[in-house]
Amino acid sequence: MVEVSKRIKQLPPYLFAEIDRLKEEVIAKGMDVIDLGVGDPDIPTPNEIVKAAKKALEKPENHRYPSYVGMYEFRKAVADWYKRRFGVELDPNTEVVSLIGSKEGIAHLPLAYIDSGDYALVPDPGYPVYPVAVMFAGGEVYKMSLLEENGFLPDLDAIDRDILRKTKLMFIGYPNNPTSAVAEKDFYKKVIELAKEFDFIVASDNAYSEICYDNYKPISFLEVEGAKDVGIEFHSLSKTFNMTGWRIGFAVGNKDVIAALGKVKTNIDSGIFQAVQEAGIYALNNAETLNKNIRDVFQTRRDQMAEALQKAGLEFKKPLATFYFWVKVPEGFTSAEFTKKLLQEKGIVVTPGNGFGDAGEGYFRISITNPRIEEAVERIKSAVV
Ligand code: MLT
Repeated sequence: MVEVSKRIKQLPPYLFAEIDRLKEEVIAKGMDVIDLGVGDPDIPTPNEIVKAAKKALEKPENHRYPSYVGMYEFRKAVADWYKRRFGVELDPNTEVVSLIGSKEGIAHLPLAYIDSGDYALVPDPGYPVYPVAVMFAGGEVYKMSLLEENGFLPDLDAIDRDILRKTKLMFIGYPNNPTSAVAEKDFYKKVIELAKEFDFIVASDNAYSEICYDNYKPISFLEVEGAKDVGIEFHSLSKTFNMTGWRIGFAVGNKDVIAALGKVKTNIDSGIFQAVQEAGIYALNNAETLNKNIRDVFQTRRDQMAEALQKAGLEFKKPLATFYFWVKVPEGFTSAEFTKKLLQEKGIVVTPGNGFGDAGEGYFRISITNPRIEEAVERIKSAVV
């Protein structure tokens, strides 16, 4: 048999695929498993969105190849929503591209900018797709540690200047997966200054902006002056509207970067099924009402989870956004040891912090995309004492 490429050989198993495998092993032994692993909402997509898709499914014109960049009406709905939600003006013709989920766009962007030997800055811990995409493009990864003492923001002054001179791309993502930290304008201003000084592109991943609590409203990177000169923002309908299975997202911002990403995509994929885009148009045009209902569910769960974890004596910061709790593992355990114990002895799936990078060691991530919150925390508590 032909050997797989070096790039595939050096890949670890995809974090959530590996967790699924371990989970199946425990289920096969007859254990009742509560899955707080992947950030995949258990609540169905709002019925009105499903109805819009059903209607769109009947239209023969939607059965043909979709447009590469996305239907104009979809890109317009994106631009209108960015204006209403963030006050950011976007030209639907040049500053918006549709994506088959933001993961797809994130994975393809480095192909547009990274040549062999170029560097990309990626957060550690971070979404596993960032470093893998850079590696696939033949680039070098520089990990920016996200430390608790810095509010899980990268220390921009600590990045080696020699590396910055070779940097073409920086990934950042707030509200953050996995730490749930949030970022404000001051941080983005510094990012933009650095990007201008060293001439690199900023890719902001804002997939969790609508999953927020206590009236806190996460901002967009593009709200900050100069952002559009240096970068783009990824967004997704997955988390915003409980649509992970539909595979629909988009990138917005600098027109040259959007065009370069679009060029990669025209050579690789053929766009999003138009019936799904029509559902996306409905969702974005009705975002305010739909989001409120979704947020209310997660707000209740966030409160329940915070209270229960506190009672269990675990150390964490109450998230202002995202589905995620970033919790310290109890003393005497590594991330892998503790999460393995939770799964094998208690039937609880959580994600080991080191799965998101070395700087995640000592933590585990809980996703509240499961209604069995109190029961889950009782089991976690019994593993701690
Ligand atoms: C996660 O659990 O980190 C996310 O759901 C993964 C993803 O969005 O692809």
